[in-house]
Amino acid sequence: MSKNGENIGIVGVGYVGLVTATCLAELGHNVVCMDIDSEKIALLTRGGVPIYEPGLAELIGKNRGRMTFTTALEDVFRQCEIVFIAVDTPPTFTGDADLSRVFAVISALPGLSSSHHILVMKSTVPVGTGMKISVELARQEINNIDYVSNPEFLREGSAIGDFLNPDRIVIGCREAAARQRVAALYRHMNAPVLETNIPAAEMIKYASNAFLATKISFINEIANVCEEIGADVAEVAKGMGYDKRIGSHFLKAGIGFGGSCFPKDVAALKQIAGNSGYHFQLLTAVIEVNELQKRRVVNKLKKHLGPLTDKTIALLGLAFKPNTNDLREASSIVLASRLLGDGAYVKAYDPVAIPDAARAVRGVLLCDDTLSAVEGSDAAVLVTEWEEFAHLPLADMKKRMRQYLIIDGRNFLDPAEVKAAGFTYEGIGRS
Ligand code: UDX
Repeated sequence: MSKNGENIGIVGVGYVGLVTATCLAELGHNVVCMDIDSEKIALLTRGGVPIYEPGLAELIGKNRGRMTFTTALEDVFRQCEIVFIAVDTPPTFTGDADLSRVFAVISALPGLSSSHHILVMKSTVPVGTGMKISVELARQEINNIDYVSNPEFLREGSAIGDFLNPDRIVIGCREAAARQRVAALYRHMNAPVLETNIPAAEMIKYASNAFLATKISFINEIANVCEEIGADVAEVAKGMGYDKRIGSHFLKAGIGFGGSCFPKDVAALKQIAGNSGYHFQLLTAVIEVNELQKRRVVNKLKKHLGPLTDKTIALLGLAFKPNTNDLREASSIVLASRLLGDGAYVKAYDPVAIPDAARAVRGVLLCDDTLSAVEGSDAAVLVTEWEEFAHLPLADMKKRMRQYLIIDGRNFLDPAEVKAAGFTYEGIGRS
């Protein structure tokens, strides 16, 4: 072990797990990464990286000497006193989080842990889970494990920067010694550390994501009203954002939020409230507005093109946001299926998500670049604001498209430039 480093186990090397492992290694700790997916572990052992995240491959390369990979949970508990759980907690059909992977680890503990361990929960788990786990550990008469809730707030696409320069570090735990030990892992970071109890730590994560999602649905509704009254939502958001109480972040109108966190966490918080007898009315609206927002582009297309039967629509971008290949809950999936349902042909190009897209957007013709995607199309829809779309090859697109319509689902393009090139332009909430 390095001089100031701890031996840390990471169970589950999905998005959060792998970024956490890599950044903890960067902070000088030795990490043992475990996953049940043997192909993923084999790939990581060979030096490969299973996800696309800017800077991650380089940081893994730099810290390779402090990172080992295994499929055996025993290895983790044998070598590490502090063990992070970062398995995924996908939504079930009711909106509740599926905790089977978390409890698979908990139920394996009796055979694994003879010495003292600190179990640190990074996965987003419903409020109350930490208490449930504590009760389960007590039931199994396991007294040598402390439980810590340490939620993660990183964003895909800027995950490393977010991890290493967080706005805050939240540590929920009953035992002061374990809390301080986990806090010490982050001691070189310049961020406020909130030490609290387990339910509050769990709730901070849900409430933060739900609030941000609420901000997005709010500005999307403002955008929809702006379209009716002739205001530009970007100007409105700018004016609102100067108010420090509101802030300028998360006020970008578009075709809805997606990804692995917001849709899941908002649904889960609504469900957590519902299960405890409280109807969280506001979140119900946030979810509904988001679903409707994804579909608004279809009406915009119909307004210009008439019925979409046999029309060809090109989607530019498929990932739920730029700088990631993640398609989970991406607006592109709903949009593509609505367009196909309306009888349109759908083509698509994304700079990095194409290899993963074949399964996610069935029936869509996947293309290698923008120009192939727009070939023979009646409209192009900008779905993800990838940097390479900032200046589209408009002159060449015009030569290839059948009709000259661009719907800018992220208000990313310069309307004047698009119009000057001879296209009809429509954004979201732009007069
Ligand atoms: C989010 C949270 O930001 C992060 O703290 C948490 O840990 C995980 O969930 P992430 O899902 O990676 O992170 O993406 P984020 O950048 O927050 O964007 C989420 C979605 O909201 C994207 O689909 C994005 O396009 C959309 N969005 C975001 C908007 O539509 N408008 C905005 O103003 C901001």
